[in-house]
Amino acid sequence: MQQPSVVAHRGASTDRPEHTIAAYELALREGADGLECDIRLSKDGEIVCVHDRTLTRTSNGRGTVSAMTLAELQRHDYGSWHRHGRPAELLRLDQLLELVKGTNVQLFVETKHPVRYRNEIERKLADALEKHRLREQIVMMSFSQSAVKVFRELAPDVRTVLLLDRLGRHRGGALPPFADYTGPGIHLLRNDPGYVDRARRAGHETYVWTVDSQEDIALCRDLGVRYLATNAPANTRRLLTANLAT
Ligand code: G3P
Ligand code: CA
Repeated sequence: MQQPSVVAHRGASTDRPEHTIAAYELALREGADGLECDIRLSKDGEIVCVHDRTLTRTSNGRGTVSAMTLAELQRHDYGSWHRHGRPAELLRLDQLLELVKGTNVQLFVETKHPVRYRNEIERKLADALEKHRLREQIVMMSFSQSAVKVFRELAPDVRTVLLLDRLGRHRGGALPPFADYTGPGIHLLRNDPGYVDRARRAGHETYVWTVDSQEDIALCRDLGVRYLATNAPANTRRLLTANLAT
């Protein structure tokens, strides 16, 4: 069976502050097959890579991302909070697109919802991919079914993942027509490992988040998971290529 591709979740975010250029550069040096990021819109419509609705956890600033301009967001340090951190600038999606351009690394971009500007983020993402001519390397993801649906209409040739934190009505494996891959959390596969096979029979490969432990990595490999999002890409690669006992 094919080994899962290793996707660096928020960059190599165990060893570097998440969503900083240092985290993504380390992931590339560690040989990640893909990078994952979360995106939000600033008040003035710039796409920035921040997971939370507010700045509190991942910077020395305060406030809501969508209520601040790019210039206001850029005043803060996004690196020093981390145990291996140094001062770091806010990351814009444009910078990440430039980083992957010309490589064979895939970029998994998650749009966060609910948000103040609704589907403006999907429209801006589609525009950015058009501007950078990077549609083949990109996979769009969201927990919001309507966000994935809107994005598919905007950029029909870009692959999509419907992220799932519960299987619910998708338990049988089928997905709506606008979703290419299924994106369950690892907690769902621990409870229902047969889901990967049911999704495959329905035509959907699986992207799983967030997988760092030896047991979870072995489970994903044995189930034939296609993409594995991990905070520690080098360690995950090492464990995948070692002869893991399950
Ligand atoms: O890769 C999907 C995963 O990142 C979803 O959860 O909260 O880490 O964005 P979260
Ligand atoms: Ca994410």
